Amino acid sequence: MSESKIWDDVDDYFTTHLTPDDEVLAAALRDSEAAALPQIAVAAPQGKLLQLFAQIQGARNILEIGTLGGYSTIWLARALPADGRLVSLEYSPRHAEVATRNIARAGLDKLVEIRVGPALESLSRLADEAPAPFDLVFIDADKDNNPHYLEWALKLTRPGSLIIVDNVVRGGRVADSGSTDPDVTGTRAAIELIGSHPKLSGTAIQTVGSKGYDGFALARVLP
Ligand code: SAH
Ligand code: DHB
Ligand code: MG
Repeated sequence: MSESKIWDDVDDYFTTHLTPDDEVLAAALRDSEAAALPQIAVAAPQGKLLQLFAQIQGARNILEIGTLGGYSTIWLARALPADGRLVSLEYSPRHAEVATRNIARAGLDKLVEIRVGPALESLSRLADEAPAPFDLVFIDADKDNNPHYLEWALKLTRPGSLIIVDNVVRGGRVADSGSTDPDVTGTRAAIELIGSHPKLSGTAIQTVGSKGYDGFALARVLP
């Protein structure tokens, strides 16, 4: 049995028992695929992990960078109270359109606001609005901008907020100090910023599963 087949089987087993049939999430993935969006949403056990983090945080305000079809958005927004808010930033109008439908079907359209455009521009505009600090930030867009997204996340959060960065391992390529791949250099810069920033305490965890060999970085904002 190949490694990745075992990873798939274990994710299937966990999904069957821990995140069982959910028609809204299944439909979100189905419609994303039908619209030919890349199939790079988090896996179900990872989506549930994001939701648990948001619940543990007692999150009322969540910021997501990289919406795609809104799959991770739905997991996160379900952790919010009725008067909570999730702002999700997405470059592609086509992705945002699919996500908007998926989020409406999930009954979360009152809580979720998708902002279309390059995230760095949306973040600058968002900061101008001086929003309530975000309790959780999920960074999952173009990896070369990860250090910039982290800097914006620091501006838009409070001590105690949690920042999560997706895809920090990428099959192990993150360990290649000689890489010139902007995804790798951007992710390495983000990891090193977490490690050196006086206002961040963080770690990174390697994961395997139906999405291959990858990982999350987690950072708590310090006073
Ligand atoms: N969080 C999603 C997956 C996001 S995939 C999930 O797990 O379900 C990454 C997304 O980031 C894609 O939809 C891509 O269009 C978007 N993206 C890429 N570059 C971007 C940018 N500069 N600003 C905002 N979004 C961007
Ligand atoms: C890619 C992006 C993601 O956010 C992800 O979770 C997996 C893959 C990608 O660009 O290949
Ligand atoms: Mg991702």
